[in-house]
Amino acid sequence: MLLGVNIDHVATLRNARGGSEPSVIEAARIAEENGATSITTHLREDRRHIKDNDVYTLIKTLKTRLNLEMAMADDIQKIALEIKPYSICLVPEKRQEITTEGGLDVAGQLDKVTEFIKPLLDNGIIVSLFIDPDENQVKASAKTGAQFIEMHTGTYSESFGTEKEEQEFLNLKNAAKLAQDLGLKVNAGHGLNYQNVKRMHEIPDLVELNIGHSIISRAVFTGLGEAVKTMHDLIS
Ligand code: PXP
Repeated sequence: MLLGVNIDHVATLRNARGGSEPSVIEAARIAEENGATSITTHLREDRRHIKDNDVYTLIKTLKTRLNLEMAMADDIQKIALEIKPYSICLVPEKRQEITTEGGLDVAGQLDKVTEFIKPLLDNGIIVSLFIDPDENQVKASAKTGAQFIEMHTGTYSESFGTEKEEQEFLNLKNAAKLAQDLGLKVNAGHGLNYQNVKRMHEIPDLVELNIGHSIISRAVFTGLGEAVKTMHDLIS
């Protein structure tokens, strides 16, 4: 299984002061040096974290692959067609949400999704659809021409350690099997952390996991000691 690292939170921290620190480019470089096989960024319509300039720079500096998360928005599609990331992941987007809530409703807007991704596919960009582990959504996704689905692992992650975990895990396992039987490749992500990620090994042939929040959260603590010590040494 491959690891895609989502670096949106680094941009959120940077934007808190409006400057250039911490650098998302440097974050991507460190992630790549430590095993990330792709870097994911979500260019949201409200540009609340990743900005246009970030993706224009990342596409030139990445050693691995850029996976661009995006909603069905014409201006973002235009940018994707210009920079041609290795892959895009189509997600639903609501302005007020804190993070992506729920999967894309492919079944309910099959023609719209199929039409939207066509120019991206025609330009050689791999397309992944971020969907809930739901039979109807998987079947609809297989009709769009997309090569991948990314299974939304949020509900499984929230259920981890509760009596609902087995059912949620089974939903993921069954959806992955159905997708693979229909010729789709399967990624997964959202809410995965250092505990619940281990069960992803029980799902055969998952290609890549996209993980952001837990990695950046852990990085704060694994890096905080050094950061304080270096500043302390400089001023004492
Ligand atoms: N995959 C998709 C499609 C997402 O929208 C997100 C969150 O931006 C992730 C994966 C990563 O989720 P998390 O930050 O919870 O690891």
